[in-house]
Amino acid sequence: MELRGKVALVTGAGRRIGAAIAESLGGEGMSVAVHYRTSREGAELTRARVEAAGGRAWCVEGDLAQRDSASQLVDRVADRFGGLDVLINSAASMERTPFGTITVDDWDRILAVNSRAPFFLAQAAAAHMRSGGAIVNIADLAAFEIWPNYVLHGASKAAIVYLTEALARILAPAVRVNAVAPGVVLMPDAWDTSVADRLARTTPLKHNGTPDDVVGAIRYLLEADYVTGEIMHVDGGRRIR
Ligand SMILES: NC(=O)c1ccc[n+]([C@@H]2O[C@H](COP(=O)([O-])OP(=O)(O)OC[C@H]3O[C@@H](n4cnc5c(N)ncnc54)[C@H](OP(=O)(O)O)[C@@H]3O)[C@@H](O)[C@H]2O)c1
Repeated sequence: MELRGKVALVTGAGRRIGAAIAESLGGEGMSVAVHYRTSREGAELTRARVEAAGGRAWCVEGDLAQRDSASQLVDRVADRFGGLDVLINSAASMERTPFGTITVDDWDRILAVNSRAPFFLAQAAAAHMRSGGAIVNIADLAAFEIWPNYVLHGASKAAIVYLTEALARILAPAVRVNAVAPGVVLMPDAWDTSVADRLARTTPLKHNGTPDDVVGAIRYLLEADYVTGEIMHVDGGRRIR
């Protein structure tokens, strides 16, 4: 898929991995909708970086935990840029939920942001992509391993893996749907650096990843016209260790 001049929506682009994805798409000459929920200043910074890289950018706010927010977000972006060609579902919330303490509210909140919103964003986006488009979901190594204290996170990302394959089949041939499943890229801000060191030591490639590793996989999946339904692991080999 030729990216120059096309329109992309990147969710959760006010910071960290989503911001790096948006900037990279700007470098391809795309018009990028920089979605954020609370990271308004970060989104403005991302907008400036997208434009400096050669793209057009627009910041758009939305709480994806809210009902109907996904379809409203897609329609606003398509109105603003006159269409939509690429959706990158990066926004997510990684919450620790030890078994035995999990509430129905925890389930609803985490699954709403991590699984429900990406699905309804894709469904709404596909309606604008009839002449061709591409969706990349960001899954997680957690979808393939059992992390006892993150069982809802893992379940929400396992749903992303299933939905990627299902939507790839449903939306072919007009829209390709793929996913990247990162391993350890950026630690949550509150985590101690010793955790990052331990994870690097126990990764076959002996180091943690960077946002650029995820960006590289996304760019490949956007440009690979014969690839759909693929889950690309970007985890230094942690899944097969
Ligand atoms: N970091 C890693 O090492 C790693 C590893 C595996 C997979 N991943 C996946 O890669 C993606 C990006 O990772 P990250 O670490 O950069 O993510 P992150 O910093 O934890 O969060 C990304 C963004 O999600 C947005 N978000 C959270 N709840 C939201 C809601 N209710 N409505 C709308 N937006 C919401 C936040 O927006 P605001 O800041 O604007 O509120 C945040 O900026 C995620 O899907 C993550 O699960 C990351």
